[in-house]
Amino acid sequence: MAMSAPPEPSAPPVASEPQPLVSIVTPTYNEAENLPILIERLHAALGVLPHEIIIADDNSPDGTWQVGETLATQDPTLRVMRRFHDPGLSASVLDGLSTARGEVLVVIDADLQHDTGVLPEMLSHVLSKRVDVCVGSRSTAGGGYGDWSLSRRFVSWVATMIAKLLLRVSVSDPMSGYFVVSREAYEQTAPSINPRGFKILLEFIGRNHQLRVDEVGYEFSNRIHGETKLNRSVIRSYLLGVAELRVGRQINPTFLLYAMVGLVGLAVNSVLFTLAEAVGFPEITTGLNAAIDPVATSFLFSVQVTILLLFAMNNEFTFWEQRYRGWALIPAFALYEVMSLVGFCVHVAVFTSLQNIGFLLNLLGTSASRVVQNLIGASIALILNWFLNTTYLWRRKQR
Ligand code: GDD
Ligand code: MN
Repeated sequence: MAMSAPPEPSAPPVASEPQPLVSIVTPTYNEAENLPILIERLHAALGVLPHEIIIADDNSPDGTWQVGETLATQDPTLRVMRRFHDPGLSASVLDGLSTARGEVLVVIDADLQHDTGVLPEMLSHVLSKRVDVCVGSRSTAGGGYGDWSLSRRFVSWVATMIAKLLLRVSVSDPMSGYFVVSREAYEQTAPSINPRGFKILLEFIGRNHQLRVDEVGYEFSNRIHGETKLNRSVIRSYLLGVAELRVGRQINPTFLLYAMVGLVGLAVNSVLFTLAEAVGFPEITTGLNAAIDPVATSFLFSVQVTILLLFAMNNEFTFWEQRYRGWALIPAFALYEVMSLVGFCVHVAVFTSLQNIGFLLNLLGTSASRVVQNLIGASIALILNWFLNTTYLWRRKQR
């Protein structure tokens, strides 16, 4: 009887590697040349601490994943995630973190711009449980930006200020992509993190104000191999990310960008109108069409220029992902123009109706009630235009 019994299922393989204390996650996209150097440096920095290295690669065309897999055949601490879906820096980092087994988790760029030399010090702060997060910072003592241009530094400074003011984070380099976080803090915060979010570190310290955070300075190195993937849309994604963190539950962050652009348009329109009147612009055009009175001409001129500017800003900024290119810009602008004129008419109609019924006139007086009436008209027009623009022009791409 025992002879006919099915063979015993073989016991699950016992992992030969000890449980790592430290997990390092590095996102990669076209870093084939940098990766081997990074891994060598990470091993050197970690020494005898049991660790694992997780490479979160978006199926890089240069075969970074392949370089990683080849190295992994000789290096049991190495694991490669070759990702085919949901590409992106944040999504990759989060994926890597979710498979990490260590008690302490590290996120570091693969392009060698983050100095592995300070990693032991960063780790010691978190391993000793003195803090939950330790940030590699370019703006604190011992830190530096390398040979960054003034303009890049300025953009980074503005972004840092926004993070400090709006998200009330106290670290000097909240944009850093280099940090250590304890497993506890990670597990506490990760469920509420937005994978579309822009800066993973901000997602942690901006969402969870309970975390104890410290920083260690390091000098940002220049890239030697490969190139940066952060393009123009970064500023936009950043603002979206901050808006999402701050008011994401109440307001669509893209609508905030849209309203911001609208405010810029309003300011530009006022300046243009004043200028057009001041430089005697009406005289030139009244010659062309004597029927239009001078003030109306400069008003129409400023409105038209503003519409063009708003279209450009919305196309290049607010709706960057759905933007129009080349010839398609012409019909798109034509449609935008019509929608804007509809919005403009609604604004004027609401304003004049409120004027006619003397809305808030007794309460605020002539000029203040005028401003409020105007604001109400503008807000209604803004919402109507948002609806028209996002329904017919910059439709959300189906993913
Ligand atoms: N998997 C994956 N997918 N990795 C990516 C992607 C992506 O879409 N885009 C970039 N990476 C990887 C790069 O291969 C690199 O290892 C790291 O993410 C950083 O990308 P860079 O393109 O080198 O960014 P950077 O140096 O311009 O930006 C750095 O500075 C910013 C602050 O100014 C990064 O450290 C950012 O994290 C940091 O916020
Ligand atoms: Mn870089």
